[in-house]
Amino acid sequence: MRIVLFGPPGVGKGTQAELLANHFHLVKFSMGDLLRQEVAVSSSIGRRVESYLKQGNLVPDDIIVELVYNFLLENRERDILFDGFPRNLNQAHSLEQNLAQLGQKIDFALELYIADEEIIKRLQNRLYCSSCGRIYNCLTDPPKKKGICDVCGQELIKRDDDEEPVIRRRLDVYNSQTRLLTEYYKELNVYKRIDASGSKEQIFKRICEILDGYIDKE
Ligand code: AP5
Ligand code: MG
Repeated sequence: MRIVLFGPPGVGKGTQAELLANHFHLVKFSMGDLLRQEVAVSSSIGRRVESYLKQGNLVPDDIIVELVYNFLLENRERDILFDGFPRNLNQAHSLEQNLAQLGQKIDFALELYIADEEIIKRLQNRLYCSSCGRIYNCLTDPPKKKGICDVCGQELIKRDDDEEPVIRRRLDVYNSQTRLLTEYYKELNVYKRIDASGSKEQIFKRICEILDGYIDKE
């Protein structure tokens, strides 16, 4: 089973990916998390991609496609949930080709949607743990102890790209490049659109109603 989860910045992809991966025993592949880790350790890839992330632009496809290919080879026996990949038609074609070489395909492409004002509100109030990656929200999902991760006790931080001008740029990039995936996946007959308003539990339930019966649970 291979599932693509896409949608605008801040819609809740990472939050749902975590819930779904645990519930359905999926390996989660989060491209944004992977790129931020490379930046944090200042690897050669990290140094090449840092300015793209800061400005809210897409990292060049050649870097992205290579990272994914390595992951696919290492996880060929596993069910996979892709969070934040693909983000344009070129990446979608390349994923389809790479999977075909392994005798695999995309089974579901799930698009989350909400209004832009809600996106800005969610992102301006997001905090995350730089150690374990747990995502929080000061308004809707605060940590038990202010500024400290419930899971691992490390300090919570804000993302560099969660300032309003960069959020707006990320939304533009989504609308001009990533939104094209809707038609692409509709043609492959794997597309589902999911209302991402309401609580994270309500959204999770909406997704489970689609996936239940197709994948084994915990
Ligand atoms: P990435 O890290 O993927 O960022 P994004 O797509 O902009 O999405 P976010 O991670 O900001 O939001 P999310 O949808 O995961 O929401 P979350 O669950 O955190 O990518 C970052 C950058 O990396 C890109 O800009 C680009 O530069 C580069 N990149 C990544 N992939 C690439 C690719 N394939 N090609 C090229 N470049 C690439 O939730 C947000 C907030 O809302 C949190 O505070 C959360 O607690 C809260 N929340 C969640 N659900 C709810 C709810 N139901 N109600 C209220 N609050 C909620
Ligand atoms: Mg995310």
